[in-house]
Amino acid sequence: MCGIVGYIGDRPCRDILFRGLRKLEYRGYDSAGISVIREGRFDLLHSVGNLDKMESVLHQLEDGSTMGIAHTRWATHGRPSNENAHPHTDCSGRFAIVLNGIVENYLALRVRLQEEGHTFTSETDAEVVAHLLERSYNGSLRGAVAEAYRQMEGHFTFVAITTEEPDAIVAVRKETPLVVGLGEGENFVASAVPAFLAETRSVIFPDDGELVVVERGGVDFFTLEGEPVRREPEQVDWDEDAAEKGGYETFMLKEIHEQAVALADTLSQRLTHEGVVELEGLGLTEASARALGQVVIVACGTSYHAGLVGKYALERWARIPVEIDVASEFRYRDPVIGPNTLCVAISQSGETADTLAAMRLARGAGARVLAVTNIVGSQATREADGVLFTRAGLEIGVAATKTFLAQVLAVLLLALWLAEVRGTLPARRVRELTQELRRIPTLLNSYLEDSADAEIERVAREYAHHPFFLYLGRNIGLPVCLEGALKLKEISYIPTEAYAAGEMKHGPIALLDQGSPVVVVATDSHVYDKVVSNIQEVKARGRA
Ligand code: F6R
Repeated sequence: MCGIVGYIGDRPCRDILFRGLRKLEYRGYDSAGISVIREGRFDLLHSVGNLDKMESVLHQLEDGSTMGIAHTRWATHGRPSNENAHPHTDCSGRFAIVLNGIVENYLALRVRLQEEGHTFTSETDAEVVAHLLERSYNGSLRGAVAEAYRQMEGHFTFVAITTEEPDAIVAVRKETPLVVGLGEGENFVASAVPAFLAETRSVIFPDDGELVVVERGGVDFFTLEGEPVRREPEQVDWDEDAAEKGGYETFMLKEIHEQAVALADTLSQRLTHEGVVELEGLGLTEASARALGQVVIVACGTSYHAGLVGKYALERWARIPVEIDVASEFRYRDPVIGPNTLCVAISQSGETADTLAAMRLARGAGARVLAVTNIVGSQATREADGVLFTRAGLEIGVAATKTFLAQVLAVLLLALWLAEVRGTLPARRVRELTQELRRIPTLLNSYLEDSADAEIERVAREYAHHPFFLYLGRNIGLPVCLEGALKLKEISYIPTEAYAAGEMKHGPIALLDQGSPVVVVATDSHVYDKVVSNIQEVKARGRA
């Protein structure tokens, strides 16, 4: 999830763009860039690292231009570097673009463009957009943007400028955020309101596939076919703090609502059209995957719970013995591992000391280490033999939410890939399962959008006064319970236990008072009936 800001008006724009980037800093960054049009040419500035780095070189960009675009990047394709930082330009140097999101068919587009003679200077998916504009430009940037949009698959927002039309910025979105800010004789475009909140509170949120043409005197909206669309501005009354949280009360709540995007991004480009799992950078050949004798998962906290889901999936689908341990225990044990062991280290940050130490122990014993992490360039990525990235964007909330789901999805993809390579699931079954995975982001979104908040608030109010909660689940419902209990302890400070439902009668039931809340995860699975009998046991004893 990157940050985008664009400005066109009568004021010098360099510092306005940079201030906008600062306001989007909370979204994460590993590099940044600004492009302005001055005297009919682009002036470009890129920097790697945080925005302090950019600030220290900002003077290199002359502050005369009154229109430009800027970007903070959170790497998904290509490492953080000056070449990979946006804005990207085409071969002729007439088009510059910034992009947020993922262009799923970029490889096919890139190959085609290269065959036509286009030269690429970065490893990113975004650069194809600049070349697509160059190819289809026919006197109208709006037309070229529409044409590029038609050819692109994925979910993205991009903003384009051209030296051919220095009085307009054109933007378009598909399932990722875009907002227009309306000023007096000046206008803004951005991936989020905070980027321009200090300048204007009059905003328009364009729809998917709507072409947005931003000029000094006004902003116009068009369909892809060029029909004008009428849009009325709305006023945002958020303070700056609320704006950074996208209108949510806390970052955690905002991130809960970003889960569907986190999952869609993590899935993106990992499933072919036919539903075959393709994972790059695992550091495992198909032959070495077939030769694996054991998987050992190491992680801490929430990441450990995601790993537990992975254990069930790896054993069920890929038929590999899986051991899992919290990294802080594993690192002080004498585990039996060797060259046929794959150690999967799960860490959102990629910096957790115990997980890194467990990775080193596994490597020292000859195991291959695969890091599952959200952070490009983190220590875990440097020490592992291979990396499987979750693409959840920056998580600011201390309690993991969207990164947990993204980790679960990543380990499920790994299990399916191994199952296919090792021949433990028929290809047809893998396709069925990948089709199910594809549906999750949409299902999750519709759940979160359809009054989930009201229902959750009602339940929370009803039970908030209880001094103790018990969570029960079986199979993958168990790690879900462990994670739910961890969240309740961490966020609400309520003592909570999570147990395998079948273990309840072996002791924990003694903890329950009349009316103690027992949260049971009972999903549609082969253990559903068993879980229902556990619910009956709890009820029969007059609890819950
Ligand atoms: C709980 C939480 C922590 C982390 C744990 C590991 O909400 O966020 O339990 O999961 O500290 O962190 P990473 O995944 O960065 O190694």
